[in-house]
Amino acid sequence: MIKVLIVDDYEAVSKEAFKVIKEFLKPGKVLGLATGSSPVGLYREMIKDHEENGTDYQDILTFNLDEYVGLPLNHQESYYTFMHENLFNHIAIPEANVHVPSGLGDVEANCQKYEAMIDEHPIDIQLLGIGSNGHIGFNEPGTSFESLTHVTDLTASTRKDNARFFDPLGEEVPTQACTMGLATIMKAKKVLLVANGENKAQAIKGLLEGEVDESLPASILQRHPDVVVIIDKAAGKLLEKSY
Ligand code: GLP
Repeated sequence: MIKVLIVDDYEAVSKEAFKVIKEFLKPGKVLGLATGSSPVGLYREMIKDHEENGTDYQDILTFNLDEYVGLPLNHQESYYTFMHENLFNHIAIPEANVHVPSGLGDVEANCQKYEAMIDEHPIDIQLLGIGSNGHIGFNEPGTSFESLTHVTDLTASTRKDNARFFDPLGEEVPTQACTMGLATIMKAKKVLLVANGENKAQAIKGLLEGEVDESLPASILQRHPDVVVIIDKAAGKLLEKSY
């Protein structure tokens, strides 16, 4: 079941998302986290809450959705770096508690180990953004609904969307990533998806009102028992039903 919340703007998306995630900031909880610009405002709320209320991350585990293949950990655009800069470095979470898939070495073997770790520590809440083509994590259109953590080729449209991060470095967007699969994401007990802006409107329409089909990976969430989708008006502009 998907619960939908449509709010005015990015800031409101971030604040509402924080209200959902706050319930999970407790010892023993396992958070599934995401990269991209969509969750950054939520991460800011988490940092503020940590600073103001002393929310403790000593006994919280995190698992990130995905990582580019071939980028050194300390690369400016690796998701490992992104997560440390935007969240981990500011909430005093022990490094041993955070997990980001490794896109280095034997990546297929890393993916299998990652899936096994998730099975050992089931995710209580999985945070997601959504790609303009409806991808979640790096599960591009056509990815099997049965997929577990795996190596995938990035589509031209995703590489174009993400070129803005690599262009200033004079580098190309990597061609592959290691990502939790769609079946991995579906194992999470709860899913929280955030999106904003007009360029997400088509993907959001497909997610909420389209057919459940592998051509729109996020549509699998219609089969999950507990999903919250929080979007701004621009991302909701193509929706026909009322929420
Ligand atoms: C990236 C990530 C996704 C993310 C999406 C949207 O490719 N792999 O996890 O949800 O793109 O990014 P943004 O939030 O910056 O629009």
